[in-house]
Amino acid sequence: MANTVRKLLVTNALPYANGVLHLGHLVGYIQADIWVRFQKMRGHDCTYICGSDSHGTPIMIQAEKLGIPPEKLVEQMRIEHQKDFEGFFVDFDNYYTTHSPENKELAETIFKRHVEAGNIHKRTIKQLFDPERKMFLPDRFIKGECPRCGAKDQYGDSCEVCGATYLPTELKNPYSTLTGAQPIEKESEHYFFKLQNFETMLRDWTQAGHLQEQMTNKLNEWFKDGLQEWDISRDAPYFGFKIPGENDKYFYVWLDAPIGYMASFKNLCEKEKKLNFAEYWDPNSKTELYHFIGKDIIYFHALFWPAILSGAEFRTPTAVFANGFLTVDGQKMSKSRGTYIKARTYLNYLQPEYLRYYYAAKLSDRIEDLDINFDDFAQRVNADLVGKFVNIASRCASFINKNFSGKLSARIVDAELFNEFINAGDSIAEKFENLQFSQAIRQLMALADRANQYIDEKKPWSLAKDPARTEEVQDICTLGINFFRTMMIYLKPVLPETAKKVEAFLNISPLTWEDKNFPLLNHTINEFQPLAQRLDKKEIDAMKTAALEDIEKSTNTISNHTEQKQSEQKTTEEKSNQYISIDDFAKIDLRIAKIIHAEHVEGAEKLLRLELDLGDQKRQVFAGIKSAYQPEQLIGRLTVIVANLAPRKMRFGVSEGMVLAAGPGGQDLWILSPDNGAQPGMKVK
Ligand code: 2FM
Ligand code: ZN
Repeated sequence: MANTVRKLLVTNALPYANGVLHLGHLVGYIQADIWVRFQKMRGHDCTYICGSDSHGTPIMIQAEKLGIPPEKLVEQMRIEHQKDFEGFFVDFDNYYTTHSPENKELAETIFKRHVEAGNIHKRTIKQLFDPERKMFLPDRFIKGECPRCGAKDQYGDSCEVCGATYLPTELKNPYSTLTGAQPIEKESEHYFFKLQNFETMLRDWTQAGHLQEQMTNKLNEWFKDGLQEWDISRDAPYFGFKIPGENDKYFYVWLDAPIGYMASFKNLCEKEKKLNFAEYWDPNSKTELYHFIGKDIIYFHALFWPAILSGAEFRTPTAVFANGFLTVDGQKMSKSRGTYIKARTYLNYLQPEYLRYYYAAKLSDRIEDLDINFDDFAQRVNADLVGKFVNIASRCASFINKNFSGKLSARIVDAELFNEFINAGDSIAEKFENLQFSQAIRQLMALADRANQYIDEKKPWSLAKDPARTEEVQDICTLGINFFRTMMIYLKPVLPETAKKVEAFLNISPLTWEDKNFPLLNHTINEFQPLAQRLDKKEIDAMKTAALEDIEKSTNTISNHTEQKQSEQKTTEEKSNQYISIDDFAKIDLRIAKIIHAEHVEGAEKLLRLELDLGDQKRQVFAGIKSAYQPEQLIGRLTVIVANLAPRKMRFGVSEGMVLAAGPGGQDLWILSPDNGAQPGMKVK
């Protein structure tokens, strides 16, 4: 048992504040939450923090699209994320944001310390720049043809068709996903963090038992490839913190994101006076620091982060735990496969604890992907959770409630058997401690089998018919209730809400791990209330249907950084995305235009070049209607154009507006028919 009280600080990866949470995110949050609840039940002083990862280009761009300041977007998302976490009983002690004064100050301090130590230097590099938006483009905002296989519309870092990885500058016919413009190469001065300066420190740290074995192996590969310096600055426009002494340069989001862990904790220290920031972050801290992350961000947490911390005179993490990705019914979770399930959609149909239980039953300490198979899910909930575990309570409680006015007997009638339940606590605890949750659950279910077997053998229902054996019935059911209570202690980190109901039913104060040693005897319990419903297949089907509808509703996606992401992030908050306001509509200047000339464009598959007469002016527009019209069919016809669309520089020339056409595409695409009344230049209302 826990004799000394440990002080632990636990973090989960901070979710980006521009995408809703999905079931894949929840693997890591549920894992960490279970672990934290376990530590707290063991009597340790454990603080659990998280917050929104609020900076970066994708958030800036999305806020622009929504027509709101980024501060507002990240605040809205922060609230939405918090609601989802609450829905799954993920109980952070603080949920903050990286866009905070605490984080700004800490980021500046850390930066300054590294500059002074000679770990940061400046140099000029060339990067792709969108000449229209006047901004440098992150790789994910550049698309083009794969330099290896020629596949079209591939991102600037890797090809989804042939798997090639390359530099954005190697793409053929690259274009900016923001404007369609062809990016140009442009120079700019950047700040670089010399990760190489930390090679010895990192090699030692990697071998010192802070990491899972697979992570250590990965790191050894990276050491072999040689550590590279890291670009920690970005040019304006950017949503982030300005670099001290600069006017138009900002810290790269990945610099201030992990510092956000410290900032969230600092913010909590301001609210909870018993916590002391320095005690947790000083280099000689006696406290423990744990980071739970997804496997896609190991590089940031196992290399950059310890280096950043140690070079800035802060403590390094005690351990970093990475979890794998989620697959759904054996498929990668993705919108295109129809396997994308939002956290909220799940909550609208199914019990949060079922997912917590299922994940616990499948999670190991290894970095492995976890599959949610919904038949298996229903089976485990119904057979194990309801059929085995809850069943023990309902079988015994009815006798205690009815025949003994809720009073438990004063003794444990089979001490040897009960001791098995008590003793299992240590090995189950060890499994929770080591993140071997699936093994802990397996052991628990073996105990549940044992308890059910005992009740089956003793048959209290038949003994109850014999008035001479009343006492025996009370003893058997008292033992049964105590089996159940002991298992509830072990399952409490996984099923916190059920535990609350059980505490009310048993008429006891909140269960701690230590309570396992003290059976509940000579005590009056309350009326049994159903604790968990069987899961109906129809509920799962309804949830899956709703998930498919979500996918249909959702629009284009932008991923937030260049590492492989688990699945597409939603870029737009759904509700704001379905409608535009009347004011938005009023901004669009629709005009009748006469097509006075039309021709093919060399090298363009879909485009025709049109010359349009708007009455008082002439315009050139490139329109993607080649599949439906020959140029000569168009000359002389009228069409509707968006006259105030910002001119777009394309590979073939500047397009000064957009022609509207109706239809599903391909050959079925129609522009206006000739109409006697319509005149070039007329406004369309
Ligand atoms: O990959 C991500 O989703 C990041 N937002 C995680 C950041 S974790 C920490 F560094 F803030
Ligand atoms: Zn390719």
